[in-house]
Amino acid sequence: MSSSFGKAFRISTFGESHGGGVGVVIDGCPPRLALDPAVDIQPDLDRRRPGQSRFTTPRQEADRVEVLSGVFEGRTLGTPIGLLVRNKDARPSAYEEMRDLFRPSHADYTTEAKYGVRNWQGGGRASARETVGRVAAGAVARKLLREAAGVEVLAWVSRVQAIHAKVDPETVAKEEIEANPIRCPDPAAAQEMADLIDEIRGRGDSLGGVVECVARGVPAGLGAPVFDKLDAEMASAMLSLPAAKGFEVGSGFEGTLLTGSEHNDAFVPGPDGRPHTPTNRSGGVQGGISNGEPIVCRVAFKPTATVGVEQQTVDRAGNAVSLAARGRHDPCVLPRAVPVVEAMLCLVLADHWLRQRAVDVLPEIG
Ligand SMILES: Cc1cc2nc3c(=O)[nH]c(=O)nc-3n(C[C@H](O)[C@H](O)[C@H](O)COP(=O)(O)O)c2cc1C
Repeated sequence: MSSSFGKAFRISTFGESHGGGVGVVIDGCPPRLALDPAVDIQPDLDRRRPGQSRFTTPRQEADRVEVLSGVFEGRTLGTPIGLLVRNKDARPSAYEEMRDLFRPSHADYTTEAKYGVRNWQGGGRASARETVGRVAAGAVARKLLREAAGVEVLAWVSRVQAIHAKVDPETVAKEEIEANPIRCPDPAAAQEMADLIDEIRGRGDSLGGVVECVARGVPAGLGAPVFDKLDAEMASAMLSLPAAKGFEVGSGFEGTLLTGSEHNDAFVPGPDGRPHTPTNRSGGVQGGISNGEPIVCRVAFKPTATVGVEQQTVDRAGNAVSLAARGRHDPCVLPRAVPVVEAMLCLVLADHWLRQRAVDVLPEIG
């Protein structure tokens, strides 16, 4: 029943969608990291928050972060960092009809099957509001990675339903991603995606798609060879996100269409004296360990479960009923999932970067 993730850089999230607030405790962040919440944390929360555009849920939350502990005079203390975001625009009454019935393909039935009790107001812990804590902690991990290792992590919407964007993970810039509310750095594809979401939203329905993510500047050697493989922990991080249904690293499922000789990333001598691969079908991870190339992964998000279209379901007494859901919902979770995916990759990389410090204790053998 864990709400915690990571080993050396460990986070525990808390809070429900329509309770007092949501947040995170970070344990293991090194001391002396310069941290200004307004500059280092709030911008990522602003990218995740609801009510940003017509493509997101109209719930209005400023999502202002409060630092409760672990930061003093602008620097981390090395003690647990407590971050809180209070819920302001909770309207539990909008969910009254969910008290006794189960939304198709949401977590209502399975939560009740597990606990025998559930917070029916806005999905409780299953709500994407839980990801506030992940994004806040991910922003701290991002700062640590940037300061300590020069790592940059970016994600973008690469597909909405069948509309594909053309994006080069090696060169894509944050300004291109943030240039439109879809967060797709291919402007022509972004326009098509926007039109499609508008059309589907107008019918009270929803859409899914794919978020792609890159980490540039990750040194070779992060990860582990067996159970804690870097790509296995990335998969665990991403598939723990609400509505995430698929994960790929590098060539992913498409790679199976090639032969070994076509698929291999040939090594050439790199400018820094290390082997380098001009192609990157491995997605920057080989044998569960980073190889120094950009880390590239993709996460598939299903169409939002809560839709205004009438659907068949069952109530707690076992009666067949129909439901056309009310409440405020994302017609497509993809634009808001972008900062959440970035946060999860930052958390995995910061954790493994710290864990590698315990490996690199003796001088290199010449
Ligand atoms: C950024 C984001 C926003 C979401 N918004 C909604 C929403 O408005 N309505 C909804 O039903 N599900 C939404 N979800 C997904 C649900 O939280 C999720 O589908 C639900 O918890 C069931 O879990 P599962 O889909 O992983 O099986 C969102 C997910 C993300 C990542």
